[in-house]
Amino acid sequence: MSEENKQIDSLQPSWATHELFALALTLVLAVWIVSKYGKEARPQSLTTDRDEARAAKRAELKKVDEEALGSYGVVDESRKVYRLPVADAMRVVVSRMNEGPGSLHKELVSRSMAAAGLAVAVPAEELEDPALIAQGKTLFQTKICFTCHQVDPAVPAAAGLALKAPSFMGEFWGKEREVHKGVGGPIEKMKFDVAYFVESIRKPMDKVVKGALAPMPPPPPITDDELKALLAYVKSLSKK
Ligand code: HEC
Repeated sequence: MSEENKQIDSLQPSWATHELFALALTLVLAVWIVSKYGKEARPQSLTTDRDEARAAKRAELKKVDEEALGSYGVVDESRKVYRLPVADAMRVVVSRMNEGPGSLHKELVSRSMAAAGLAVAVPAEELEDPALIAQGKTLFQTKICFTCHQVDPAVPAAAGLALKAPSFMGEFWGKEREVHKGVGGPIEKMKFDVAYFVESIRKPMDKVVKGALAPMPPPPPITDDELKALLAYVKSLSKK
């Protein structure tokens, strides 16, 4: 190779330089594409998907709510959630009262007779049993107590609002309350304890909480064991 050729050769860019340049160009191009389309395109499609999913879920929940409010239907069989519309609850009470003088009273008496022999003296430790409390929580739904007695500040009890039924929130166990002795009867002071709870369920017309717009309608049949579980659950709701 002549001296002159060698000089020309060193002036030519080598292949490595070409490759490096091509690589840099590709990189710049890639960064540009990602910054231009990547940011906007992907997250945007994600939020749209999420919004649509949310809207669909909302519509589904609303449908469930509307169906539930219009019927006795089971809202959620797996969680044993039922609803009783206020109008239907009131209709049942009125129709019982219209069946004849004392017919509602007779039924109440027969229900409390069924409870005869109920052990009111339940040991305090037994009421602390988490399994019993959990059973009571389920019964509170299946025996439709929850339609009238609010236990969660976030979940209003529709029928209870209409009747001004007492809620089971805050501190209530062991506290004094004023009740009418009999529907519209004289006022008496009562302590919220085991005996009062049992009486409230077995003979709901005997003591009517002051301020309630109607006495508590007779609940569906409740066995003594179920009553004990309900008792444990309601007691557990009271703040100490
Ligand atoms: C249709 C509505 C309704 C349903 C269902 C209902 N209650 Fe009541 N309950 C009331 C009303 C109204 C009162 C207040 C008037 C009264 O004392 O009779 C009341 C009072 C009570 C009291 C006395 C509370 C207090 O603060 O003195 C207890 C305890 C009680 N209910 C428990 C239950 C349990 C347990 C169930 C489920 C088995 C239930 N209730 C179902 C409406 C209802």
